[in-house]
Amino acid sequence: MATPTGWRREGNLPAELTSFIGRTRLLANLKRHLSESRLVTVTGIGGVGKSRTVLRLAHQVRSHYPDGVWFADLARLQDAGMVKHTIASALGIADQSSRAESESLSEWVGERDMLLIIDTCEHLVQGCAELVHELLEAAPNLKVLATSRQSLHLPYEHVVPVPPLQVPGDDPAESLFTNESVQLFAARAGGSVPDFVLDEDNIAPVAELCRRLDGIPLAIELAAVRLRALSVEQILGLLADRFSLLAGASRTALPRHQTLRAAIGWSHELCEPAERLLWARLSVFAGDFELDAARFVCSDGRLPSEDITDLVTGLVEKSILLIRSNHAGVRYKLIDTLAEYGEEWLDKLGQKEQMAQRHLEYYLSLAQRSEDAWSGPRQIYWFVRMRQEHDNVRVALEHALRSPGKSALALTLLSSLWFMWVCCGFAREGRLYLERALEANPTVSKERCKALWVLSYVKSAQGDSAGALAAAETCSTEAVRVGDSRAVILASKMQGTAALLQGDLQKASALLGVAIEFNTENRELNPGLLPAIVELSIVLTTQGELYEAESLLQDCLQVCKERGELWVSSYAQWALAGTRIATGRITDALQNAREALRIKRHFHDTLGTLMALETAARIFVLSDKLTLAAQLLGALQQNWKTAGLPQLGAPWMTEEHNACMRDCRRRMGELAYKDAFEEGARLDLDEASAVALDDPDAPDES
Ligand SMILES: Nc1ncnc2c1ncn2[C@@H]1O[C@H](COP(=O)(O)OP(=O)(O)OP(=O)(O)O)[C@@H](O)[C@H]1O
Ligand SMILES: [Mg+2]
Repeated sequence: MATPTGWRREGNLPAELTSFIGRTRLLANLKRHLSESRLVTVTGIGGVGKSRTVLRLAHQVRSHYPDGVWFADLARLQDAGMVKHTIASALGIADQSSRAESESLSEWVGERDMLLIIDTCEHLVQGCAELVHELLEAAPNLKVLATSRQSLHLPYEHVVPVPPLQVPGDDPAESLFTNESVQLFAARAGGSVPDFVLDEDNIAPVAELCRRLDGIPLAIELAAVRLRALSVEQILGLLADRFSLLAGASRTALPRHQTLRAAIGWSHELCEPAERLLWARLSVFAGDFELDAARFVCSDGRLPSEDITDLVTGLVEKSILLIRSNHAGVRYKLIDTLAEYGEEWLDKLGQKEQMAQRHLEYYLSLAQRSEDAWSGPRQIYWFVRMRQEHDNVRVALEHALRSPGKSALALTLLSSLWFMWVCCGFAREGRLYLERALEANPTVSKERCKALWVLSYVKSAQGDSAGALAAAETCSTEAVRVGDSRAVILASKMQGTAALLQGDLQKASALLGVAIEFNTENRELNPGLLPAIVELSIVLTTQGELYEAESLLQDCLQVCKERGELWVSSYAQWALAGTRIATGRITDALQNAREALRIKRHFHDTLGTLMALETAARIFVLSDKLTLAAQLLGALQQNWKTAGLPQLGAPWMTEEHNACMRDCRRRMGELAYKDAFEEGARLDLDEASAVALDDPDAPDES
């Protein structure tokens, strides 16, 4: 089912879904610019093929970049403040640290030899330009390729305009049959009407049609779809009428963007009224969406929910919607320019607010379902699912935070997704939003209490134990005021977590004990009871009460097993490894640490992976696998930098880490240690995990 997410070195290029036509010169030109310049911006009107050309180029040059080609799509992002975050997230960067985003982004890119593609910058030019500048200054081997309807206005930027495709007649020596526009039309026509062939009979009207459409790929694709119902001549005739009306009596050529609008408008008119309405409504989604979401969000008395499936199919057939399927199911996406058109239409219909509200309701309810299901047997499924909906969740959050009277819903949505922020490596994003939502909701309430304990947990995950303690204390005070006993207990748990990080073991033990004892009906197994038990066992191990620690952890693992809960079990396995190191059961400890790592690979759990690698390094030192230990120590040093405060700033973890380093260095000798450490420092988290797991493709132990 799920593939491990994040930390892949090869990049994250989306696949190309349809055939690519022509553009040989443009691609060669772009390659040359890219070899000469560190920033190339591809410009051009909507629908001309900027994104597609860049994607083709990216696939072609992929092997030139040892650290991958990465693709960040900003098309549906509205908030300039989230540009950095969206790019970091596309790179799969650990999002734990509480430092400035650009700092850790630059640090992550560091010496990496990679290409970053930022698609669709025009609505956020300023923010993109600032970030690109910062990144290029900090990362000497980085190259950036942007697409935008306008340039980023940076002095060293190479701007490469994307012209429309060649149209018949541009090159008088060229055969009509090999012309790019004609070929694109023929390729898409073949997709609509399988027996379509280009021949002497239809080549002249096809060529004329492509000329009329100015060689704009999107316009050509939309026209080709009409072949299901009309002949080429009919399409041409209808378009010609339309264009002459638009251009006035003179019949002069239209500006290109007007040609495209006319082509889109024409497609729009040829849709059934219900399809048109759905097209407009679907513009509320960010990126792609699933059918269920469309059914819920877009249906009402005028568009019954049982009709939505057929209407979506109709829009796919008309090339308005793209369809994508992967292991997690089928998803749909409106092509950018068409989403904009739909949005304008939705605005004219006066339904923007209504759709945004439905969209928020859907994601709110999905988030609540995911929270309920989180501690059950389908945890990985829910992680993958909510990860796919990340862009939509962001849009829903933005809507709730911007709309008067809805900011409390933002609190609920955010708090439900606590596991995304804490367990799946998105602490920074969670914190950003939680702080905004809490500020927008200053009045004491149950919703606020939940958001406060979530915030505390998130801050602990970032190693900000003082902040975590403060948030949990506020939660506790407010929870008493509103009589929310559940939140009081969770506040106590979060205070305990923060105290553990601060190394105040007595306080941690008392608070975690309270959280466990008062969780009488096991109502909050996760993140209340089970993580509290794991954390208490860490306190006990540190205090030398190893038997008690182990038996607590065994119980916890048993509960996890019964419930199919994986994430806490990986946490418990990690803690058990620590307990077993203390009792000298090194082989068992290694098994536990590896089991923890194996599970964490399914989630984007940066923090948990780092902690498990810390333990693996200690085990390797104890079992004389010194080269492996030194490699892991190198990888840890490098990867903590972008993930957060090293060893979460916890004194006991730092002490263990330093002792492990000293030991390893002393026993290996300075030179050998340095070599292995530096080798390890080049590993990303996946590779370091492979070393710890002794995967066959991990570097050999020499
Ligand atoms: N050379 C090509 N071969 C095949 N299809 C193409 C080509 N160029 C563009 N297309 C198709 O045309 C449509 C519009 O292209 P694309 O989305 O790249 O335009 P864009 O310039 O990025 O538009 P926007 O400004 O809206 O982002 C897409 O469906 C794309 O796949
Ligand atoms: Mg584009």
